[in-house]
Amino acid sequence: MNRVAPRCSSRTPRMHVSIGTMLASLALPAASPAAMADPAFYANSFEKVPSPAAMTDLGRSLFFDPSLSASGRLACGTCHDPAHHFGPRDGKAVQYGGRTGREPGRRAVPSLTYTQAIPPFTEHFNDDDGDDGKDQGPAGGRTWDGRAPSAHDQARAPLFSPFEMANASEAEVVDKARRAPYAGKFQDTFGPHVLDDEARAFKAVILALEVFQQSPTEFYPYTSKYDAWLRGQATLTADEKRGLELFNSPLQGDCARCHPSAIRNGAFPQFTDYGFVALGLPRNGEIPANRDSRYFDLGLCGPLRTDLADQSQYCGMFRTPSLRNVAARSVFFHNGAAHTLRDAVRFYAERDTSPGRWYPRRPDGGISTFNDLPARYRDNIERGPPFGQRPGDPARLTEGDINDIVAFLQTLTDGFVPPHMSGTGSISGGELSHCGEIEGRRQPAEFRVPLPE
Ligand code: HEC
Ligand code: HEC
Repeated sequence: MNRVAPRCSSRTPRMHVSIGTMLASLALPAASPAAMADPAFYANSFEKVPSPAAMTDLGRSLFFDPSLSASGRLACGTCHDPAHHFGPRDGKAVQYGGRTGREPGRRAVPSLTYTQAIPPFTEHFNDDDGDDGKDQGPAGGRTWDGRAPSAHDQARAPLFSPFEMANASEAEVVDKARRAPYAGKFQDTFGPHVLDDEARAFKAVILALEVFQQSPTEFYPYTSKYDAWLRGQATLTADEKRGLELFNSPLQGDCARCHPSAIRNGAFPQFTDYGFVALGLPRNGEIPANRDSRYFDLGLCGPLRTDLADQSQYCGMFRTPSLRNVAARSVFFHNGAAHTLRDAVRFYAERDTSPGRWYPRRPDGGISTFNDLPARYRDNIERGPPFGQRPGDPARLTEGDINDIVAFLQTLTDGFVPPHMSGTGSISGGELSHCGEIEGRRQPAEFRVPLPE
């Protein structure tokens, strides 16, 4: 598979700058992925034209409000912790929620950073560069299986999921919003009667949550060491540089095939091409649902997603996540099968060469490879590099290579302050569009913040 990243710059203009005509002055541009998926949603039905800043502020209040959950103890921010780049705060394979707070989830919590440019789900992704027009298969959509077309659709899922915030109805959510200490912000943002009408009030809730998640400084600041290096403001160590080369090399890691690492069309890399792949991960006994040996999380073909249940060629496939901020996690992959970044990388090196380290033994002594996917779907599993060797072959990546790739991945964590800027705080996200596209010419000087006297 020769897969390439969707072009970000032309398809997804700046969220907070341009205002699409069809969108009646809501701050979402006509061509944003979410808007393409659902134009009617963005038509302004409020008394007042809401400003992006006010929606962001309200969305932040909602995101961190545990009283929006049935248990009263679970906010979006409980699972998507800002101290962990909006990913999980601990290494649990799944988080617990629901009315009692004890209902286990089904999948590891993804980070919400760098999700701003996820295109809507399609079964037939075409890179829109116009040079090849090749069908690259399914891509895009929110969640590990791409089932939510936009961030506001996505917000519905946790609000109502029986193992997450577990509200029974939109009315229940709206009722809580009416009683929240920030209820006044709804009126200031959307007009005095916004909370009177249930449908309109619920729309305000999910719209504010969506706009908050598009806040560049919080969700896609591009302040990692790697970004500084791309701007010519930092140097990578020898290990980090080697790691980057291994990551990119088609003969070694070949990671960039699915997690692109280079600036493309002026846009900084997202480290995902949004495509779906079956990695054949080992089954994780830490997930309570897996105690039932008949239960399989098949990703695209179900059971959480239902529209592609008869498409067996998709079973086992999950959406490629961004690797930005991945080093801040302590649980990896959709089923949390790895708990250290080194193990996550090692899985790629050893899955085929040393399967005995990854899969359990069968009673007959053989190795139960790919045990989280029923045998009839195993043709769907990715066999290209870095996979594809036979058991006992030397791995494409040595222990030293794995360490270097880990060192490189650690440069993707936001919050790096380039040496000549220390003392002036972090780089403002303002110079970048939401795609990481640099506005104006790429000159390090433009990003230089004056040092304090
Ligand atoms: C109990 C933990 C939990 C809570 C609470 C929670 N989430 Fe999530 N979130 C998850 C998990 C797990 C997934 C992955 C779901 C899947 O793949 O089926 C996810 C996925 C997402 C995604 C998709 C990210 C992507 O990469 O596509 C978004 C957006 C999101 N959540 C936003 C929210 C918002 C907004 C709230 C509050 C209304 C919220 N979440 C509350 C656990 C949680
Ligand atoms: C063929 C496409 C493909 C290639 C090549 C690839 N990945 Fe991935 N990567 C994925 C997919 C798909 C997932 C999510 C799979 C899942 O959870 O089921 C993933 C997940 C990950 C994760 C876990 C991220 C998280 O948030 O949990 C890490 C780390 C990772 N990849 C690193 C690498 C490295 C390092 C390489 C090269 C050695 C690499 N990947 C090569 C597709 C790919």
